[in-house]
Amino acid sequence: MLPAVVSTAHPASTYPALVQELADRGLLSAQWRRVFEAVPRSRFVPADVWRQLPDRCEPVVGTDAWLALVNSDEPVVTQLDDGALGGPGVATSSNSMPSMVARMLTLLEVHYGQRVLEIGTGTGYVSALLCERLGDDLVHSVELDPVVARQAADALAQAGYRPHLRVGDGEQAWPGLGLVDRLIATCALRYVPYALLRQVRPGGVVVAPLAREFWSGALVQLRVQGDGTATGPFCGGATYMPMRAHRVPDLHDVQGKGRSRAAGLDPARLLDLGFALYAGARLPGVRLIHRSTAEGVQVWATREGGGAATAATGEEVWQYGPGFLWEEIEQVWWEYEAVGRPDAQQFGLTVTDRGQQVWLRDPDEVIRPSRA
Ligand SMILES: C[S@@+](CC[C@H](N)C(=O)[O-])C[C@H]1O[C@@H](n2cnc3c(N)ncnc32)[C@H](O)[C@@H]1O
Repeated sequence: MLPAVVSTAHPASTYPALVQELADRGLLSAQWRRVFEAVPRSRFVPADVWRQLPDRCEPVVGTDAWLALVNSDEPVVTQLDDGALGGPGVATSSNSMPSMVARMLTLLEVHYGQRVLEIGTGTGYVSALLCERLGDDLVHSVELDPVVARQAADALAQAGYRPHLRVGDGEQAWPGLGLVDRLIATCALRYVPYALLRQVRPGGVVVAPLAREFWSGALVQLRVQGDGTATGPFCGGATYMPMRAHRVPDLHDVQGKGRSRAAGLDPARLLDLGFALYAGARLPGVRLIHRSTAEGVQVWATREGGGAATAATGEEVWQYGPGFLWEEIEQVWWEYEAVGRPDAQQFGLTVTDRGQQVWLRDPDEVIRPSRA
């Protein structure tokens, strides 16, 4: 799994101070500010939690540390390894970073009277915020993990909220729900399942974090069209834990003897969300991850069926297996330069019953894979 983004914002010592910080950063409208103020995050965070570090989850010990984390703009990990004991310690449920929650709720553009479906109830905090804004009856939330769902239902009831809750797979349609006006996924999707769009009325809005294979994740805001397709812009980076069936596989196995080559493009230049969106569309199936080094960055890229490369700032490049994956990545970088090195905001996504396509500047300008 990719490391979670850890906030660089100063930790706020109290919940009102955290809400003030979000408002000062321009992330809360007056209406959302009132809603955040009315729903303390702490009511939705269990006693046993972990802090997400770049490479692992660290248990939070003691009330002061717990309060400091809950009142900061950081995610609070609430489950590891799908609840199994003795696992590798991968975060599988959390109370998301408050600034990310604020960004997603703003992108959802809810208005009073609208029905909302949330996928990934988690701790119940987002459901509570939606209930506070819209009223219990208009809020629907589905959670796959029965233990997590039970805790959320209890926390919501204790806080006085009673949204419609379901334990099940949010990738499938909610039986009998009918059309909703807004859909928010709070777990990351590798692709937007068409079945999700079919639950949203034409003109409705879908907000979701996408976790692409090429390095990074991004928020997307889609508007459902009259023909059932949906299209809309990417709206900045987002690192979310994936929907269970959408977990990105580990790097593919690297086979064959390595071939070295002189250093070329600094791999640090690849870590740009705009490039990640462009390269993800040009090189589908190529997985790229990175780590910081004293000199800059090291990246690893692999492709299903063979072909791998690693490059570190200032060092020679190593390639493995069939083809020349690093040359392909460099080639896509030069193309990205040639189209003006667009930032992430200039990209968008269209979803139809045949799949999804990334576009640049205009939905008609679809970015096609480099290998047909
Ligand atoms: C980041 S947490 C959600 C945070 C939540 N919105 C909150 O307010 O605390 C992601 C949740 O998505 C759930 N999830 C993963 N796959 C799912 C699926 N297919 N359907 C429904 N929920 C799913 C996970 O179990 C996890 O609890």
